[in-house]
Amino acid sequence: MTEEKKHIRPGRIYEITAVSNARIKGIRSLAQKKNRDNDNTFMVEGMKLVRDAFDNGWKIETLVYAPGSRAGDQARELAARARVSGAEILEVNEKVLASMTRRENPQMVVGVMRQQWHPAPAGIVDPASTWVVLDRIRDPGNLGTIIRTADSAGADGIILVGDTTDPYSLEATRASMGSIFNVPLVKLTESQFLDWRKRWPGIVVGTHLEGAADFRSIDYDSSPVLLLMGNEQQGLPPSLAENCDRLAYIPMNGAADSLNLAIATGVMLFHMGKRLPPPGNEK
Ligand SMILES: C[S@@+](CC[C@H](N)C(=O)[O-])C[C@H]1O[C@@H](n2cnc3c(N)ncnc32)[C@H](O)[C@@H]1O
Repeated sequence: MTEEKKHIRPGRIYEITAVSNARIKGIRSLAQKKNRDNDNTFMVEGMKLVRDAFDNGWKIETLVYAPGSRAGDQARELAARARVSGAEILEVNEKVLASMTRRENPQMVVGVMRQQWHPAPAGIVDPASTWVVLDRIRDPGNLGTIIRTADSAGADGIILVGDTTDPYSLEATRASMGSIFNVPLVKLTESQFLDWRKRWPGIVVGTHLEGAADFRSIDYDSSPVLLLMGNEQQGLPPSLAENCDRLAYIPMNGAADSLNLAIATGVMLFHMGKRLPPPGNEK
């Protein structure tokens, strides 16, 4: 536990006016992955993300807000909710808050909470189950967008394989638009994944620019699907591609030689459409 953490007092309110305050510095340091890893916490900025965290049952450890800010009533309401749930509340001025959030669009509320990592899923029997596997994904914007897309398509969760970008970075949580709080995340090394994959009860579909099957020709409905997506630069390595039941390609027009990883994931998930309402239910 870091020095700053020792001072957390659940349910207590503190007024802080100095940008250099140790608690503020400690929270600000969560912008760096090594500090998030040490603490197993992360911070999110903005009322939408903090509200989404609450609504999905996440426990806020610390909530920072500016009572006199332009966010006014909404920020105060979130602070009251956080306090009732046992969070430590730091009341600050806009200057302190601006020192903690992004410069181009300073936010009025910051929430700090614990990271949640899930064990690799077991005992899956529902043919509608889909897990997305991301091999060494590098770009936090792509990762946040994939979390948002997987959530919207009704995927069960995401498995991050190998050395990946951090889903709990500010950029990834922001791009997830709140879905970070609704999509179980699993982290495995490649060898842990290959070992676990042997017990997967359905088909394993890898997407590959040299895949043998048009993605529209595969039966996704009869069994659970494990959907493997390759790294942005290198694609799926042979060690993973060889362990897929099918390698699928998405035919393309135009000059580009591949789709953006997040777009390709969205195309696959919405084509499978496993948990989407059947056509005919137009709004
Ligand atoms: C930007 S692409 C990787 C390009 C990389 N240069 C390669 O050779 O694979 C990132 C990932 O998106 C998926 N992808 C992108 N376009 C695809 C397509 N047309 N067909 C199948 N998968 C695709 C694959 O999973 C791929 O590994």
